[in-house]
Amino acid sequence: MGETRKGEYGFDAPYVPLGYAVGGTVLVVGGVFLGVLGLVLVGIVLLLCAGVFLHATRRGKFQIWENALDELKLEPDARVLDLGCGRGAVLLAAAQRLGAGGRAVGIDLWRTVDQSGNALETTRRNAVAEGVADRVELHTGDLTELPFADGSFDVVVSSLAIHNIDAEIGRTTAIREAVRVLAPGGRIVFVDLRIAAEYVDVLGERGMTDIVDRDEGVNGWWSGPWMPTRRVTARKPAARRL
Ligand SMILES: C[S@@+](CC[C@H](N)C(=O)[O-])C[C@H]1O[C@@H](n2cnc3c(N)ncnc32)[C@H](O)[C@@H]1O
Repeated sequence: MGETRKGEYGFDAPYVPLGYAVGGTVLVVGGVFLGVLGLVLVGIVLLLCAGVFLHATRRGKFQIWENALDELKLEPDARVLDLGCGRGAVLLAAAQRLGAGGRAVGIDLWRTVDQSGNALETTRRNAVAEGVADRVELHTGDLTELPFADGSFDVVVSSLAIHNIDAEIGRTTAIREAVRVLAPGGRIVFVDLRIAAEYVDVLGERGMTDIVDRDEGVNGWWSGPWMPTRRVTARKPAARRL
């Protein structure tokens, strides 16, 4: 999709950049008013954090997924599942790489605290705007209990969603579910915050191979280098011939 995207994809964790921007502005104005340089400097840092966060959510995330989806080289008839698809930033970019026989399936609980304006209808509208509504399917459901049969998908992706599950046991269950619905030989791509390092162990325990965990650099800084984005990729072993 890149810079040519036609849908509206909102802001991830919208209260975070808002908090930085409001806090930064108050400190700068207050610091100037009171004549306290320290307050002004801290305020400027907070405003910079807001700017870096906005870059990650409006541009950086899209660039990370352009690269990740290009590297996947999806087959035209692939069945792709996006866990926590939100407004469809990744789901629809994947759908655009499929042919008419492919399927891009998104599942979400549509939480607006995690993404502004999050709603199934918004994602459906974006699918129409991007010209891929014919190959997109949307479901309402929890990542810890996927309503799909074992081995239903060739590729399972997830962008910045699994970390939203509070308890480690919940995140582990979601990853096990992802592996369960993946077909033998299928691939997983999870892009998430630093906590994604935890997913590597679970994928290994579930017998996944070719596990790679990499840092996505400045495009994935959610305010600064202390809040980086990781991309974890893995493959499910192909079924053994008897
Ligand atoms: C930060 S947004 C990212 C959305 C989208 N993947 C993207 O990159 O634009 C996280 C998404 O995860 C969804 N989510 C969080 N916890 C979930 C859960 N337990 N089950 C399903 N979806 C969940 C939220 O509703 C939200 O749409």
